[in-house]
Amino acid sequence: MSNHYSKITGWGMYVPERVLTNHELATMVDTSDEWIVTRTGIRERRIAADDQTTADMSVIAAQRALERAGITGADLDLILLATSTPDHLCPPTSSLLQDRLDAHKAGAMTLVAGCSGFAYGLITAAQFVNTGMCQHVLVVGAEKLSYAVDWTDRNTNILFGDGAGAVIVSQSDQPGGLQSMVLGSDGSQADALIVPGIGSASTLTPEALERKDHKLRMDGQRVFKFATRVMTDSVLKVVGDAGLTIHDIDLIIPHQANERIIDLAMRRLGVDRDKMMINLDRYGNTSAASIPLALCEALDTGRVQPGDRLVMVAFGAGLTNAACVWELQTEEAQGEPILVTDWPVSDTFQQRLQEMRVAAWRAQAQARVRVSDATMAVMIPFYTFRKGVKKRLSGK
Ligand code: COA
Repeated sequence: MSNHYSKITGWGMYVPERVLTNHELATMVDTSDEWIVTRTGIRERRIAADDQTTADMSVIAAQRALERAGITGADLDLILLATSTPDHLCPPTSSLLQDRLDAHKAGAMTLVAGCSGFAYGLITAAQFVNTGMCQHVLVVGAEKLSYAVDWTDRNTNILFGDGAGAVIVSQSDQPGGLQSMVLGSDGSQADALIVPGIGSASTLTPEALERKDHKLRMDGQRVFKFATRVMTDSVLKVVGDAGLTIHDIDLIIPHQANERIIDLAMRRLGVDRDKMMINLDRYGNTSAASIPLALCEALDTGRVQPGDRLVMVAFGAGLTNAACVWELQTEEAQGEPILVTDWPVSDTFQQRLQEMRVAAWRAQAQARVRVSDATMAVMIPFYTFRKGVKKRLSGK
């Protein structure tokens, strides 16, 4: 068994100054603040300056994380930059970041896993640290989605924003860090969220440019369906695999895509709202930057403390999904062990009780998911039918 553990020793975030509100969007396309807030929970998002790139935003977030960790770029062994909006197709943006941080001994990789990219990166960083191969790994999630969005398409332009978040994952001898993980991919749904015209599968002809093939296209309802399923399934899996129930988790940091997706997952998991970190109202969906931005705000505001157990859960283009339970170590010792009872009973008995508690919680949550699925299977066709009838009657 390894004596190395992963510890988040630094974190930092950056969002551009320019705020784009729903009201402003309503002057650009046929939408309204009310529609966007009701359907997504988003009120505003940040937009990078024209000459500001993903690497530029990553550098600021990374420098803040390094400073907090009390190290410099020269101490880094590895840089993992998750983004779907790199500065260039080639070279990797992670190398631009490595150069600007003077991280001369660090390897650098750009990780493309859609909005799940940061969670993929964090889990990957823990593997390098826990095996003892790396002392300090920088994980960044950064996006300039305003570049990829078609500003005439109200289906996507209401959702996305720009920003960057970073953490330093360092080696520690105190137990904690990554407790369990899920990494998933369903490439059969690749076309649900796609930029069709950039890459070796396409040629950017004038016709393709005219069709806006270089911009993001999304089948919102398919992504919504995938998201609600994987959010619940992967939280159930990582929490159970860590030998915990949802009641042992201090904060869930979900990918900030849509408040309705988060609400549905919350109801299915039987979780109170105060256990959910939500900041999408201010930043929208910043893809790979979404979880680190929420994590940084949770740490900065004291919403999570050393010793707390977090769940991070993401989904995105691919379609991909990723989740983990992460324990934030204190300076001195690990978080409090889970005590099932205060009675003076043996560790084996405690462990058995905890296993039963986990099994009972999982069964309850799975039953709630089955009821929710059955209700949706009846209600969605009913609402679609009712909408069709209303449209026919109104002659629209
Ligand atoms: N403003 C106003 N009306 C809009 C609109 C907008 N921005 N976008 C769509 N509409 C209209 C539609 O035309 C439709 O009108 P109709 O009833 O007359 O046909 C109606 O609103 C409902 O559209 P629908 O697409 O069914 O809305 P929805 O409830 O599914 O919400 C999304 C759309 C995109 C917000 C939602 O599907 C979603 O969030 N999906 C997940 C997307 C996601 O998370 N992507 C990122 C993954 S990392």
